[in-house]
Parts: sequence; C-alpha cells; structure tokens
Amino acid sequence: MTSTYHNPVLLHECITHLNIRPNGIYVDGTLGGGGHTEAILKQNSSCKVLAFDVDQDAIKSAQERLLPFASRIIIEQANFRQLRQILDVHKISAINGLLLDLGVSSFQLDHSQKGFSYRFDAPLKMQMNDRESFSARDVVNEYDEEQLADIFFHLGEEKHSRRIARAITKSRTQQPIETTTQLARVIMNIIPERFAKKTLSRIFQAIRIQVNDELNNLRQTLNDALEIIDYGGRLAVISYHSLEDRIVKDFYRNEASDKIYDPNYPELSQSKQPRLEIVTRKPIVSAENEVHENPRARSAKLRVAVRI
Ligand SMILES: C[S@@+](CC[C@H](N)C(=O)[O-])C[C@H]1O[C@@H](n2cnc3c(N)ncnc32)[C@H](O)[C@@H]1O
Repeated sequence: MTSTYHNPVLLHECITHLNIRPNGIYVDGTLGGGGHTEAILKQNSSCKVLAFDVDQDAIKSAQERLLPFASRIIIEQANFRQLRQILDVHKISAINGLLLDLGVSSFQLDHSQKGFSYRFDAPLKMQMNDRESFSARDVVNEYDEEQLADIFFHLGEEKHSRRIARAITKSRTQQPIETTTQLARVIMNIIPERFAKKTLSRIFQAIRIQVNDELNNLRQTLNDALEIIDYGGRLAVISYHSLEDRIVKDFYRNEASDKIYDPNYPELSQSKQPRLEIVTRKPIVSAENEVHENPRARSAKLRVAVRI
C-alpha cells in the first residue's frame, strides 16, 4: 500500500524551502502516504514531525512507512484546523515550519468506494474522514437549487451551474441520487459530450470542497499558523486549484504588507507590522519530467513564506 499510496509532489522543492533545522519541530498538516514527512525526517536526524490526516487509511499507511522514525514523529488522526489545540495537548508552544499539501491523495481518488471520482460507480460519499456523517449524498439531495448552483459556480467555477442545479433537483423528484454514476448521468444528459469530462471534474470538485469544508479549513489554519510558527520559521502550501491558490496568495500578500488596506476606503489605510516575508514571488510549479511521471503534479503550485 505504501509505495503506490501517493507520489509526493514538489518533494525536493518543499524540503529545500522548509529549511529543516537540527532539533526543529515541523508540522505536516496533510500526511497522506507520508512521503513529505519521511523526507523531512531524513533531511535532519534530530528534527521532529507532528503529522495530521483526517483519513484513517492515510494514518495506517503512513504509520507503517514511518515506523523507523517512530521516536521522532507524532501522528494524529485530526483535521489540521485543530492545529492549535493539538499542539497545546502536546505542550508545543512554537514550531519551525508548517507544510500543507492540500486536497485529496491519489489513494483517495483511486479508491472507488470513497466516492470522490465519477470514474467509478460508488455511493455518493466524498468524506476525507469517513467518520463524518455529512456526505455528498446530503449535498446532492438536500441542498435547494440555488444552493447547488452557488457551490457549482463558486467552488467549481462552472458556468452552467444553474442548468446543472436545475437538472439535479428535477431528477431527484423521481428518486434520490445515491451514486456517482447516477449523478454523472444527470449531468451528462444536459452537457455536450465533448465537455463532459471537464464539467464532471468541476462539479465533483465543488461537492468535495463543500463536504469537507476545505476552503474554511485552509483560511482558519493559515491564520492560526502565524500564532505558532516561530520567527524565521516557514509556511509552505501546495495547492491544486485556483480557489485554494488565491486564498494562499492573498493571505501572504496581506501579511507581508505594512498596511491594512480596505479597497472601499483606500484613503483610510493604516500602517501595521508585517508578519510574513514572501519567499516565492511566483509560485513554484513542477518541472516537465515530474508532470510526465506524475500527472497529478500538473496543477500544483507551491508558495512559501517566512514568519518575521
Ligand atoms: C495531497 S494528499 C497529501 C500527500 C502527502 N503529502 C504525501 O506525501 O503522501 C492530502 C492529504 O491530506 C488530507 N487532508 C486534506 N485536508 C485535511 C485537513 N483539513 N486536515 C487533515 N488532513 C487533511 C487528505 O486526507 C489527504 O490524505
């Protein structure tokens, strides 16, 4: 399970930019198959890692892989949004770096019964943490037409959001939509075949983000991170779509600025102390050969900042 679980993306670039120090404490908020964590632990023989994942399959796979480093790693099945509480539990008051490699792993996408992909017939689930009860089935069958259209538009950037929302609400008056295949069929009935793949990807992405509250997890954790990353420590985030990347980019820009700027009242902008220095003016993307070996790396963008 370990070797095929997930190929870590931008591995070398992450490790270089995290600037791993002797005795440093690093948090990997998205453990997955443990590829990034393993590389951090190998980079320096005295550093420690606290790693999170919400998915128990990820935890099991990574625990096995990281057994040789057991004395230097704590693994928690938890949302990275709980970072501050969990650091408190372990009496850790500051860390030297935080890595977030967002979204889902290859294992999750390719595990048919998790319901993330329209490529497999499966119950509409899509919870990264399958102990959660709120699922894609609830979104698809309980949200009203306007709520569905809004998430397809805002979280999927889908321009046919209204038509698709209408088709779903009409279809479920006959019978509930229970599976990925049923949902895909409803969408494909109203979208020309040549657009089907991209449209299905956008709609499935939107539902997944909603089910797992992904954008709020990210916003909250970026804010919290500044309270716990030590001066000189690093924040590294890999995003896979423009919604996440925009949140990271705007957060870094605001925190690196020495002004509080309100676009509605530009004349009232006030001075403040910047809390971050941006290391990557432009995001780091994968080289051709990485994309060739691992197509998932194609959309990856790594942004790094230092706590000042
Ligand atoms: C892209 S994969 C990370 C892969 C990992 N870097 C590796 O080298 O294998 C993302 C992982 O983060 C987990 N995840 C996503 N959002 C999370 C959150 N808010 N809290 C904890 N884990 C999360 C997912 O369950 C998934 O296993």
